Amino acid sequence: MGGSLPKAMVSPSMMCCDYADLRKEVRALEALGVDYLHIDVMDGRFVPNLALGSDFVGALRKLTDIPMDIHMMVDGPEDKVALFKPRKGDIVVIHLESTAHAHRALQIIAGYGADPGVAINPSTAVDGLRHLLDDLRLVLIMTVNPGFAGQRVIPATLPKIAEARRMIDGKGSGIRLEVDGNVSFENARLMRSEGADTFVAGSSSIFDRSMPIGEAHARLIEAIS
Ligand code: DX5
Ligand code: ZN
Repeated sequence: MGGSLPKAMVSPSMMCCDYADLRKEVRALEALGVDYLHIDVMDGRFVPNLALGSDFVGALRKLTDIPMDIHMMVDGPEDKVALFKPRKGDIVVIHLESTAHAHRALQIIAGYGADPGVAINPSTAVDGLRHLLDDLRLVLIMTVNPGFAGQRVIPATLPKIAEARRMIDGKGSGIRLEVDGNVSFENARLMRSEGADTFVAGSSSIFDRSMPIGEAHARLIEAIS
């Protein structure tokens, strides 16, 4: 399936970065030509962890022009989008499970000129996205339980990638398909073959500290091309 897919894109998971050397990390990611910076926003309620807020995004925007891929793992995301001052070129992803008003949340995001996205947790059916396809530009399939880096992929999530690909292709409107969670070099290859085109790269790949970041990036690119 890899042949006819949109160009693969890499979105490094900044919750895995070296916060003590953020400038150096960002410059390295710029040199590698990554497509987005994945920002895991966590409120300790929708997911049992706290992570990355609007101040962190503000600091990154002072450092780089790389667009943000803001993954809102928060309750009531429609009330919190404004904090991040989304802009054209950014992606802002809400969780289907996090609000009763997904259409309203996506319309708010689109109002900033950013690309609206919807994420689904491992146990959420792909079909739940069907009525949102006119209002989103990206689908995010969580391949681990959201909230923590360093987890292992949940096998039952992998067929969801191909199911989402079929649904998106049926719509024919260039919606991107992102995967997030244990996107290792091996898993990335499999996820690409299932139809993913945008890859959240965390501790399983680009931030695998057992090798230089350039080598990790090259191995990931080889796996998804
Ligand atoms: C999970 C996070 C991801 C990712 C981190 O909630 O959204 O950023 O899992 O990367 P890995 O899984 O490779 O450590
Ligand atoms: Zn994420």
